[in-house]
Amino acid sequence: MGLLVLAALLASVPLALGLNNTLAQTPTMGFNTWTAFGPDIDEQLVIQTAGFLNNLTLSKLGYNLIVLDDGWSTKERGVDGRLQADPKKFPSGLKALSDRLGGMGIQLGLFGDSGTRTCGGAAASYGHEELDAQTFASWGISYLKYDNCNSVKKDKQGVREQFELMRDALNKTGRNIVYAIDDWGVSNPWEYGISVANSWRTTAGLSDTGEPASWDSIIRGLDNNAGLGRFAGPGGWNNMDFLQIGEPLSEELTMDEIRSHFALWAIAKSPLFISTDLRQITKDALGVLMSEELIAVNQDPLGTPGDLIWKQGSDEIWGTGLKGGARAVAMLNRHFDEDPLFDNSSITLHWHHLGWEPNMPATVRDLYQKKDLGLFTNNFTVVVPDHGVMAIKLTPSKFADSFDAWRPWDCGIETDTGTHGVWACFSHTALDYPKLFGYTIPIDKTVAAAMGSVIALLCVAVVGLAVGWRLAVTRSRKAYKKWGEEAGQTA
Ligand SMILES: *[C@@H]1O[C@H](CO)[C@@H](O)[C@H](O)[C@H]1NC(C)=O
Ligand SMILES: *[C@@H]1O[C@H](CO)[C@@H](O)[C@H](O)[C@H]1NC(C)=O
Ligand SMILES: *[C@@H]1O[C@H](CO)[C@@H](O)[C@H](O)[C@H]1NC(C)=O
Ligand SMILES: *[C@@H]1O[C@H](CO)[C@@H](O)[C@H](O)[C@H]1NC(C)=O
Ligand SMILES: *[C@@H]1O[C@H](CO)[C@@H](O)[C@H](O)[C@H]1NC(C)=O
Repeated sequence: MGLLVLAALLASVPLALGLNNTLAQTPTMGFNTWTAFGPDIDEQLVIQTAGFLNNLTLSKLGYNLIVLDDGWSTKERGVDGRLQADPKKFPSGLKALSDRLGGMGIQLGLFGDSGTRTCGGAAASYGHEELDAQTFASWGISYLKYDNCNSVKKDKQGVREQFELMRDALNKTGRNIVYAIDDWGVSNPWEYGISVANSWRTTAGLSDTGEPASWDSIIRGLDNNAGLGRFAGPGGWNNMDFLQIGEPLSEELTMDEIRSHFALWAIAKSPLFISTDLRQITKDALGVLMSEELIAVNQDPLGTPGDLIWKQGSDEIWGTGLKGGARAVAMLNRHFDEDPLFDNSSITLHWHHLGWEPNMPATVRDLYQKKDLGLFTNNFTVVVPDHGVMAIKLTPSKFADSFDAWRPWDCGIETDTGTHGVWACFSHTALDYPKLFGYTIPIDKTVAAAMGSVIALLCVAVVGLAVGWRLAVTRSRKAYKKWGEEAGQTA
């Protein structure tokens, strides 16, 4: 009985998480070289890009990291067995580059790969995790994007184990390095991500290098994230891939589509990575990337990922809770028709989609226009153009603790009292993980195994003691009895 209680007590202690580097409490923001430049990168280009991040004031808004994607390293390791930067592209070396950028207030990040070769065929980290992590740390990098090209292990568990090896190797360096894993979502990384990495890619890439992104690819990326909000939170985020904003990425997208893309990525709490040539960026594209009120939603300290909270036909509402009880919402019209007569859709957001009583007044603010639209109760209706979005913040007139506890995936299925029929929360999945800190977290396997051994050892010890005690008692009883019998005989 005592044993059972002990075991239950031990089992109820929250198990330590595999990754607890306290980094990425909000989604990471920065610049990645890949969709902008492919493998054609060098130190001049990187320093110039850092200069643009600064003088376009992007760094002030939080984009203060440059990640060198595939193409920075050589095909083979150096004679010392270490990964090495391509000496033609980076003649001063990566330590000098990270120092130089550091002096400009910009951090340096790198791409790595868990397989035998990177996607582009350079040397990769399989079997060299510790050495490579030490090398990265010695160069002063702050972020590792760890890809899964040419992986040796093809099954989901194997993919996870490879990612865990680099997690532990980075931890051993003692340096703060944000760890971003990328298997394009194939191993369902959201199921284990928060114990392994600071972000995990949930989808395939939204575009190929140098190729314009299509609206379909943006929508596919979005759809793949419906229902995944519940797996993320401070320290670990669903990564929906780079922002497809700026030429040539968004060449085929309309301004409405670009605004939808940015608002939805910001509300879903995806890391926000620019990946366009800043030498050529247009004012319009820059304006969207610099939408500071949407960036504030993305970086909100509560860290609740947004999710799909209502859908009817091609109209959707994505929402999230902000610290202090407010909500950020994107009302999206996915419809498209050649006939401009059918261009617009009227979408109504009801307060019960947001966990609020209908009669509470709330201020509605347009996040792109940075303009208050007025005080509303019960609902807010707006006409949204095809492929466009209305991005708003709703601030309640009073505050209740329960407002901060609301999560966009905690909504149930209800009958709408308004004119829009039935709404449903699409965020529920059948998966049932133990809940920790309000986030669903799969128990870390190795830790669970270690805890199992500790419990087993304790059991053996307790049983041993009990048996020993029992034996001792029986013996002394026997001795007493014998003494009694002898005493009786002499009497
Ligand atoms: C992670 O580390 C922080 C700071 O050291 C600590 O407050 C927190 O409890 C840790 N979380 C877990 C799950 O170990
Ligand atoms: C901004 O920085 C870039 C890169 O260093 C430089 O080429 C450009 O002239 C700068 N522009 C201004 C206006 O300072
Ligand atoms: C390494 O992991 C331990 C335990 O989870 C944690 O306390 C520590 O902060 C980590 N160190 C780094 C550099 O991530
Ligand atoms: C759609 O809405 C826009 C802006 O609200 C308006 O200019 C346009 O006339 C509307 N189109 C139709 C067909 O109602
Ligand atoms: C929106 O709320 C108002 C009351 O504030 C109500 O009169 C109206 O019918 C509601 N609209 C819908 C579409 O539910």
